[in-house]
Amino acid sequence: MNFLTRPSAHIQTAFLSPQHVAEIVQTRGLAQVFAGMVEAIRSDFLRWSEFDKTARVASHSANGVIELMPIADAKTYTFKYVNGHPSNTLRGLSTVMAFGVLADVDTGTPLLVSELTLTTALRTAATSVMAAQSLARPNSRVMALIGNGSQSEFQALAFHYLMGIEELRLYDVDASATEKLMRNLAGTSLRLVKCSSAADAARGADIITTVTADKTQATIITPDMVVPGMHINGVGGDCPGKTELHADVLRMGPVFVEYAPQSRVEGDVQQMPADFPVTELWQVLNGSATGRTSDDQVTVFDSVGFALEDFSALRFMREQSIALGIGEPLPLIPALADPKNLFSALGAPVPALAVQPSMAPALA
Ligand SMILES: NC(=O)c1ccc[n+]([C@@H]2O[C@H](COP(=O)([O-])OP(=O)(O)OC[C@H]3O[C@@H](n4cnc5c(N)ncnc54)[C@H](O)[C@@H]3O)[C@@H](O)[C@H]2O)c1
Repeated sequence: MNFLTRPSAHIQTAFLSPQHVAEIVQTRGLAQVFAGMVEAIRSDFLRWSEFDKTARVASHSANGVIELMPIADAKTYTFKYVNGHPSNTLRGLSTVMAFGVLADVDTGTPLLVSELTLTTALRTAATSVMAAQSLARPNSRVMALIGNGSQSEFQALAFHYLMGIEELRLYDVDASATEKLMRNLAGTSLRLVKCSSAADAARGADIITTVTADKTQATIITPDMVVPGMHINGVGGDCPGKTELHADVLRMGPVFVEYAPQSRVEGDVQQMPADFPVTELWQVLNGSATGRTSDDQVTVFDSVGFALEDFSALRFMREQSIALGIGEPLPLIPALADPKNLFSALGAPVPALAVQPSMAPALA
């Protein structure tokens, strides 16, 4: 048998649904999943130069954005499809919905198709913690959490488990979102303080996390709310025309981003001139740039979400699914005995004359 007659390898694409991801989290434990994801993201950020990187491709419309986020190293290619539609919740839909693919670079074989809505929330919180581990004061115990929607519990618990946050000061323009968050976190040892405004939430906080969704140039955090030593974890300003931080907040201390070409378009730094100084996080992680340099410095992580975080998250979830035997096969690519005989996958015998040429337009 030579390569011309050899049957094509049987392609095993795996599928991870939201239920599969939930099962992985329940089996491993949420704290362990966050810790594993932080390490996966950190180890990939430390290999920064090995990745073929590009800013995401965004398709904007009146209500939101749909984005494709591709990235690859020499072995693995991934992409994520993700939307951001802040008004979706009024229609009973999530603001953010996502799925993605992990493929083998050598052959182009799709190895995994996975949900990425839950996984995005996990990886975003893990990235925020990874940044805070270098940028926030290690003795930070109080976090303001402004925006109490889908991402908020993930941020709360990642900071509780991995950064030692003990108290959350909560604010959302929608009081029912805060109540939902308080119900979901009632079983934890976190002290939950409901606040009357963003300024009230920021009072006494070591870290401010903003994770609001609004398609406007918002200024949720203004300089008067920021005191020396604070770390700001800005998560919700992630699209052109969608910000959370006043421009003067960005001037209060060093600003850290994931991938500058993307962040300058999408992040809170979109408000700043093209030469406004930003430091990419990977440089802090590998020691080529400094993170926080003193206890009274203000630091800002202007997060937008970068494809490498999804690469790490997909690879981490795939490793967990294989180790735990969770997931299912997805018959995505035709199984062919002869890789040149794609036609055989149609299965049906070829009729002598099925359609008169004159009938074809009627079927179109
Ligand atoms: N940086 C990243 O990697 C990343 C990843 C995922 C999501 N996001 C962004 O995070 C944001 C939140 O996502 P979500 O899935 O939690 O959305 P969501 O719609 O579920 O929740 C957003 C919450 O923000 C609240 N809000 C809106 N304006 C506010 C304001 N001015 N003050 C206080 N609260 C306000 C809303 O009432 C809502 O409860 C979105 O903008 C999304 O695009 C960023």
